[in-house]
Amino acid sequence: MEETLQPKKRMLSGIQPSGDLHLGNYLGAIKNWADRVNEYECYYFMADLHTITVRQEPAELRRRSLSQLAQYIACGLDPEKNVLFLQSHVPAHAQLAWVLDCYTMFGELSRMTQFKDKSAKYKDNINAGLFTYPVLMAADILLYQPDYVPVGEDQKQHVELTRDIAQRFNSIYGDVFKIPEPFIPKTGARIYGLTTPEAKMSKSIPDGCVFLLDSPDDIRRKFKKAVTDSDTERCVRFDKVNKPGVSNLMSIYSTLTGKTFEQIEQEFEGKGYGAFKPAVGDVVIEHLRPIREEAERLMKDKAYLNDVYLKGAQQASYVANKTLRKVYKKVGFYQI
Ligand code: TYM
Repeated sequence: MEETLQPKKRMLSGIQPSGDLHLGNYLGAIKNWADRVNEYECYYFMADLHTITVRQEPAELRRRSLSQLAQYIACGLDPEKNVLFLQSHVPAHAQLAWVLDCYTMFGELSRMTQFKDKSAKYKDNINAGLFTYPVLMAADILLYQPDYVPVGEDQKQHVELTRDIAQRFNSIYGDVFKIPEPFIPKTGARIYGLTTPEAKMSKSIPDGCVFLLDSPDDIRRKFKKAVTDSDTERCVRFDKVNKPGVSNLMSIYSTLTGKTFEQIEQEFEGKGYGAFKPAVGDVVIEHLRPIREEAERLMKDKAYLNDVYLKGAQQASYVANKTLRKVYKKVGFYQI
């Protein structure tokens, strides 16, 4: 019997090259992307426009923009199967963001948790870009008409705002934008810092943050120092409220091995934290080893990476410009 070919659903997501990629980015986002490359038509980018809402060292930003591409590929995002690109190479992002700025309310942006956190952290630089950041993110997404946006839990609010903006625009002009769904992994959606199990893992606390390019020794050391819990029980059991440190390590272990929390509890029954922490470290080391080695190899081939960026920018621009033209026409910009 002949099979009817359904067009593939589309996924799109991005990460800011504001720091080196870490285990939170990997488990919350990239792993989820890489596991699905054959199932979806995928667009993944480096959100460099977003990074300058906080001051960046220009040479470092350039280095990370290339290194992040090498790491995406090393994580399994084959540029032949995925469109990989740098946001600033596709001007339509900034162009659509301006239009959407005019369809987003001040009150909506004031409620964004990331804005509240960042404006508290960077008190001397609460710039307009920091405030309108979610609108640029909405433009990033809506330009590509994706079905799903695979992100960690902390970005869910931004995807929800994107849906609201798209619905508002569509209610005025007809069906211009597809309304995307956030796609959040069951485990790994929020990885906490190894030394701060109450705060999400982030580059700003490097001691508790495992970077994808960390050496095995560094990873071992970081897991050794991981904060477990001061309860008297000292057994490996998933309990986010009373055992946040152990539960975080269990989430990491579970996402990488595919084992359930019950299986992990059984595996470490009677063994205590002393055996558990290095075991999680070892799983992370072995999982990241081929990624680090491949990324290091790719980083030596700048011509290849530039080629990927060039091809990615062309493919992305083609799709993005199509949406932008439609939007310009709908709002009444005169076309020649
Ligand atoms: P960013 O760059 O902060 O993070 C990139 C991705 O990594 C996830 N993530 C985490 N997941 C689990 N645990 C953690 N500790 C952790 N830290 C980060 C984030 O949820 C995210 O999926 N605004 C976005 C970037 C962006 C974007 C977009 C994403 C710009 N435009 C369009 C999707 C679609 C951001 O700052 O993510």
